Amino acid sequence: MGGIFGFYCREPRSLRDVKTGLKRLAYRGYDGSGVAYLEGGSLKVVRRPGHVDGLELPDVKVPAALGHTRYASRGRATLENTHPLLDCGRRIAVVVDGVIDGYEALRDALAARGHRFSSTTDAEVLAHLLEEADPTSLAGRLAGMFSFAALTADGRLFAVQRGQPLVVAASGGCSYISSDIASLYGFAEEAYVLPEGAYVELEPGAFRIQPAEGGPQPERKRVKELLYAEKAGFPHFMLKEIYEVPEALLRTKAALMDKYLRLASMIIHGARDVYVIGNGTSLHAGMVSSYYFADVGISVNVISAAEFPHYALENVGTGTVILAISQSGETSDVIRSIRAARRQGAVIIGVTNSVSSRLAIESNVYLPITAGPEMAVPATKTFTSTLEALLILAHYVGLHTGRRSQADLKALFDRIDGLARDLAGSIQALDGAAESLAGRLAARGAIYVAGSGIVYPAALEGALKLKEAALLHAEGLQLGELLHGPLALAARELLVVALKPVEKPAVDLYSKALKIAAERGADVLTVGPGNDMPAVATDRELAPISYAVSLQLLAYRAGVKAGAPIDTPPGLVKAVTI
Ligand code: AGP
Repeated sequence: MGGIFGFYCREPRSLRDVKTGLKRLAYRGYDGSGVAYLEGGSLKVVRRPGHVDGLELPDVKVPAALGHTRYASRGRATLENTHPLLDCGRRIAVVVDGVIDGYEALRDALAARGHRFSSTTDAEVLAHLLEEADPTSLAGRLAGMFSFAALTADGRLFAVQRGQPLVVAASGGCSYISSDIASLYGFAEEAYVLPEGAYVELEPGAFRIQPAEGGPQPERKRVKELLYAEKAGFPHFMLKEIYEVPEALLRTKAALMDKYLRLASMIIHGARDVYVIGNGTSLHAGMVSSYYFADVGISVNVISAAEFPHYALENVGTGTVILAISQSGETSDVIRSIRAARRQGAVIIGVTNSVSSRLAIESNVYLPITAGPEMAVPATKTFTSTLEALLILAHYVGLHTGRRSQADLKALFDRIDGLARDLAGSIQALDGAAESLAGRLAARGAIYVAGSGIVYPAALEGALKLKEAALLHAEGLQLGELLHGPLALAARELLVVALKPVEKPAVDLYSKALKIAAERGADVLTVGPGNDMPAVATDRELAPISYAVSLQLLAYRAGVKAGAPIDTPPGLVKAVTI
């Protein structure tokens, strides 16, 4: 993954404006950043490894500039591998978002023809190929999901969309190109989303899009205010976004439209089989949904989108429904899975926070969770809003199976209002509790986050948050499994973060398992209403949301204590598109 941002203007403008755009794209990668620009008739490049915040650009005005913020997917995070990358004659500067498959063979062939390489990235291949071929003919010859843009010494700025998002805009004598429409706020009021396969040539203040032959046309969209992309006084985006959970819950409820919920629920009810797919946090949301759907009489298969094409696809056919969950809507595993499933006749229902994402575009029906932009890499408010959307969807399915009534649906909306209210009223107290407990998580040999029943996936998610936000090794497990091996580590600085069960059958197990863990020398920290780490009291179905918030705060405060780079964990990126 990576972020692309550039401009081409009639009157020279400050080179530093590129940095404004790139900073807004830093969620797409922070392993390196750089800018190519035209000055005095020649092509210049400034680049450095690391976050774009540290990129120092000269205070000059230039007509054209093209910048990049990098996630190191091919080649390490070094200066040589930082984009823009140049051709042999240093006359073509290229930036790439995504991955070019099979680039090694291309590289060997180019090297055999005398091209000299200075990096180990796939992106550099493009710079050299552009020395030999026209960009429009080139794109069709390459495999992979990527987009690239190039600025040349003779004043050409062009780009190709081959599977990663690109938007273009023109305003006030400048044309712009970017990976993300939100980054254009303040630069332009509307933008065109390039369809896959499109080529665009930018000129000073204008652009010309050439869609793929027979392919879709570009879509015009308004550039909305970037209200959520600032930290608004919070030290980290993650904390701000956890504090936004209550309002996001209310927004999700308001934005989900009855007609699409009816359609999606009808499709699920009529399905021969249902697969729920996602990765990471979205997979955990999918796991919770299996309890919601089971409650209304529908059993679903939950599987990681990374595994789906290899272990489930052969059973997919007409009558199969894929419920695909992805906050970004861009995760490659998810996109690859839905494409393959569609080819075999499946119907796709997407659940995403990004309405212009590929998941939204390529689903038969999609449900927008409308949690607002999430800038921190550790997902928080999008997880809780996704759970809410899935619970509402399951209730709609229940209207078909007869397990839920309109009154139940109305009561659910009231319960969600109540949870949002209670969370808003107690979030500071929860945060205070997390802060005072953070020291207990530091310097542990191992941390187990254990839960049972419907809060088991919340335990997995809690462990994931501890890894991302606090860089602590944590493992999520089912409470009962604690006794089947994991307790061997009890005496080695083991901390068990135990989620109080919300279903009756697990209560007895809970007290017994914790007693044994303590006797064997483990430190036990309980989570739940009135526990060591409190959680807002709620009914069973909403408990995963309530517990998730408490665990997010715990992970966040542990991260602060550890001095971890909370919003930008090493080696991670907001949407994994490799
Ligand atoms: C969440 O905190 C992680 N950053 C990661 O596991 C993420 O959930 C996963 O990569 C899937 O992302 P998506 O929801 O955008 O598809």
